[in-house]
Amino acid sequence: MSSATARNRGESTLIHGGQVVSPSGAVAADVLVDGETIAAVGAPGTLTGTKSIDATGKYVLPGGIDAHTHMEMPFGGTHSVDTFETGTVAAAWGGTTTIIDFAVQAKGTSLLSTMDKWHGKADGNCAIDYGFHMIMSDVNDSTLKEMRACVDAGVGSFKMFMAYPGVFYSTDGEILRAMQQAREIGATIMMHAENGIAIDQLAAQAFAAGRVEPVQHGITRPPELEGEATSRAIRLAQVTGAPLYIVHLSAAQALTAVAEARDGGQNVFAETCPQYLYLSIEDLAKPGFEGAKFVASPPLREKSHQADLWRGLRTNDLSVVSTDHCPFCFKDQKQLGRDDFRAIPNGIPGVEHRMDLLHQGVVAGEISLSRWVETCSATPARMFGLYPRKGVIAVGSDADIVLYDPAATQTLSAATHHMNVDYSAYEGFELTGKVHTVLSRGRVVVSPDGYTGSAGHGKFLSRELNQYLN
Ligand code: URP
Ligand code: ZN
Ligand code: ZN
Ligand code: ZN
Repeated sequence: MSSATARNRGESTLIHGGQVVSPSGAVAADVLVDGETIAAVGAPGTLTGTKSIDATGKYVLPGGIDAHTHMEMPFGGTHSVDTFETGTVAAAWGGTTTIIDFAVQAKGTSLLSTMDKWHGKADGNCAIDYGFHMIMSDVNDSTLKEMRACVDAGVGSFKMFMAYPGVFYSTDGEILRAMQQAREIGATIMMHAENGIAIDQLAAQAFAAGRVEPVQHGITRPPELEGEATSRAIRLAQVTGAPLYIVHLSAAQALTAVAEARDGGQNVFAETCPQYLYLSIEDLAKPGFEGAKFVASPPLREKSHQADLWRGLRTNDLSVVSTDHCPFCFKDQKQLGRDDFRAIPNGIPGVEHRMDLLHQGVVAGEISLSRWVETCSATPARMFGLYPRKGVIAVGSDADIVLYDPAATQTLSAATHHMNVDYSAYEGFELTGKVHTVLSRGRVVVSPDGYTGSAGHGKFLSRELNQYLN
């Protein structure tokens, strides 16, 4: 039924009795959903609807926005195992109602044909709304021109790599040129900041010396080389005036560089991911090749970095939490690197668990309830041009709403998760808090009865530019 029909028939849903959480706090309020959008937010007991959902004892949150996922991503001769369908269903289970996935330009191809290809994978298959960033791996006169057309098509953020020489890597000169163009058109450059040239030497030396096990992935990608690349990216952004967003920041050294740049007034932003807050190089060092489950880049760090990352989330030097969800199965795909850690496909699954894992930060007193919603929903919406359609519970916004039960408990496990991958990086984690009900544009897609959404409900989101700057 279209939203117009729903309105004509006078059908509306009242979510009552809950605490509506936003970056400015939590208030007792009722929310009226009419069709796909929010029609009213009012004091408890002041609104009526034809149907109702009881949110007593629950938080009522704007749906989570995961601004960094990789569904069906080609990597190292294989591809990440969640399709746009399975990955968005898993996201919905975890209270995420929007993903922004990365379209991956292969060298020698155009940005616009890449975008078409990603629409071909995603359109009609997503359970929740989705947008794209563009991974630029071939910078030339033609692709630089195409950046403007990408912006016009709703893709105003471009990821570049200082890592993975020969694959996604761009030279400093190429990065400089893309940043100049980004500055010109108001786009944001997203940076994978690790010094890949130096890392490849360290990795080759380790392999030649017979050190082939997964922990070598972490040892040969030291935090100093993330700090160095982050500083270099910041300097290039400073020279060109381009806005910069550091993706998957994992190391204290990189956080220091971001904080300094922000203190100096530069438009530099950063995200971190749950794996860097909760997992460590000790997981990479697990015996029996178990460590391969935890291979991602940047690598999991010493535990001492975690306190710095939590502080960064509190002080807003880390503005966003995304998952970098990039699932590869353990039983076959991760085995590609059994005899050479360099061949282990890079990535950790997590799209389903971001809201829950960050809620643990609230439980533990690391971040406030407001900051949870801000880093997981409101800020990613603004950063990537989706606000106020997404990221807020307000009249006129899409009815992407999560009822969250802060008192429920759960144990994470591959046996119960919905991601299409054969292991959990968080196996056995006992959490307080659990998603109760999820609405995507007014439709209940997850409830205590189970998943009630459908592939194809999710729509492509043509995004505005970074709303902190434009
Ligand atoms: O290891 C990772 N992070 N895999 C996904 C690709 C990327 O660099 O984000
Ligand atoms: Zn990356
Ligand atoms: Zn990624
Ligand atoms: Zn598999």
